[in-house]
Amino acid sequence: MGKLDGKVAVITGGSSGLALAGAKLFVDEGAHVFISGRRQEALDEAVKLIGRNVTAVQADSANLDDLDRLFDAVRREKGVVDVLWASAGTGEERKLGEITEQHFDAMFGLNARGTLFTVQKALPLFNDGGSIFMTGSIASVKGFPSWSVYAASKAVLHAYARVWLSELKDRRIRVNVLTPGQIATPIQEQLFDEETKAQFESLIPRGKMGRPEEIATVALFLASDDSTYVNGMELIVDGGTTAV
Ligand SMILES: NC(=O)c1ccc[n+]([C@@H]2O[C@H](COP(=O)([O-])OP(=O)(O)OC[C@H]3O[C@@H](n4cnc5c(N)ncnc54)[C@H](OP(=O)(O)O)[C@@H]3O)[C@@H](O)[C@H]2O)c1
Repeated sequence: MGKLDGKVAVITGGSSGLALAGAKLFVDEGAHVFISGRRQEALDEAVKLIGRNVTAVQADSANLDDLDRLFDAVRREKGVVDVLWASAGTGEERKLGEITEQHFDAMFGLNARGTLFTVQKALPLFNDGGSIFMTGSIASVKGFPSWSVYAASKAVLHAYARVWLSELKDRRIRVNVLTPGQIATPIQEQLFDEETKAQFESLIPRGKMGRPEEIATVALFLASDDSTYVNGMELIVDGGTTAV
């Protein structure tokens, strides 16, 4: 018996990194998973890696027409959603004094606006008793220099969760935020040199970044009936970085 037998899950940004590890685990636990991302090549590779019970839809989560296409595909193929993990997100450093409109719009356009419309567009398909969670970041609760706009664009997610769980309580849909600390994923390679990675690792009690699989198991907890009494929470998974 898998923990997600017969469930339909949608994972945005599921073609790479921590969400890809989650997609693989969800399928291993019995779900059919829809993954989205902008790059078709990455989606094709992810489908190959996951191997079965997965549908990839090329869609930019910052683009509302693309989100319509994503949920049209889910409607056509499965008709319902039980689990939504809105994980597509973007990050970029920019010091106060150097922040541009483009930077602000890119961070908020995907992390705050895109996430909101992802959830809203999924709702008509949602089964009662479902689980929604969004990927936050510990940047929103720490004061990492140069990350103010990213931090703010992730901080909104917990506010969404608190309000939406009240709005969705009659449908028994839970809404949470999964908030990772530093995780060794491809985005880390793009954003940070070895020195910066070492600086971040020095803040982690075990001295080593998390692995995508260590987020995937927590995502499975939030997606499954193991967490039926967990609602409106920001679940921080950071090896203790924010605790010390
Ligand atoms: N890694 C960390 O240390 C860390 C820490 C805290 C929070 N996070 C958050 O975790 C999430 C995943 O990050 P990751 O580290 O796993 O990064 P990753 O390996 O780069 O994966 C990002 C995924 O999101 C997709 N994506 C990016 N922009 C998108 C868009 N506009 N529309 C749809 N999909 C999009 C990417 O595919 P395409 O590029 O093809 O679109 C890819 O599948 C993000 O929300 C990030 O902010 C990561």
